Amino acid sequence: MKKLMAANWKMYKSVDQGVTTAQELCALLDGQVSDDREVLVCTPCTMLGPVAEIFSQRPYCAVGAQNFYPAAQGAFTGEICPEQLLSLGCSWALVGHSERRHILGETDEFCARKVAFGLDAGLKIILCVGETIEERRAGQVEQVLERQLMVGLRYVVHNATAATLSIAYEPVWAIGTGEVAGPDEICAAHTFVRTTLCSLLPSCGAEVRILYGGSVKPDNTAAILSLDNVNGVLVGGASLHAGSFAQIVLA
Ligand code: 13P
Repeated sequence: MKKLMAANWKMYKSVDQGVTTAQELCALLDGQVSDDREVLVCTPCTMLGPVAEIFSQRPYCAVGAQNFYPAAQGAFTGEICPEQLLSLGCSWALVGHSERRHILGETDEFCARKVAFGLDAGLKIILCVGETIEERRAGQVEQVLERQLMVGLRYVVHNATAATLSIAYEPVWAIGTGEVAGPDEICAAHTFVRTTLCSLLPSCGAEVRILYGGSVKPDNTAAILSLDNVNGVLVGGASLHAGSFAQIVLA
């Protein structure tokens, strides 16, 4: 199973800045990425086309979207559909990122519809899950993860595969705070996610990649990747600079 080294640029960068970062990243990564690593950069939708064009010559690297609407087309002002993303050369999309759950009000059920629609349309999906600090303090980590996975995957139990579905465990309290989860917390959460995946998706749950996200930096990546059931990382802030994301990819 290749480690998936994913960047999430969130709502940062002009098109020119995104193109420059992508070019810098290629200059640092070409010929350096080992066969057991796969790189993904999730950009704002404004620059998906030009960044996909840059990565199209690089089999080690793909481009992803941070969002889409689960319909083929229609009167959904401001939204973008999977077909439009695919036509730009975008092959992956995030679903259920905590910022979309908590700032944009996306529910578990809406995430479930997006996972199913995205997979059916031919996108590869990363479903993000993770607890808030209040939920952790209340001892509800497993309850939250189980609910987000059970509901989020409810329509794809028969057609998800390890090639097309990944999970990102991103504890909300570790996102953008510099407070990375400790090894015991990551191991416990990833083991729980793995067990849940194995029961929800008997045909592929053991192989679906589980990424860790939340204050991943060049100096903590190797230790995080060495933990059981950590099959990649999803990186926010430290992915915005080609130099630091390249160090993470190569860690
Ligand atoms: P940071 O790496 O900035 O903590 O963000 C994590 C994240 O939200 C990735 O999706």
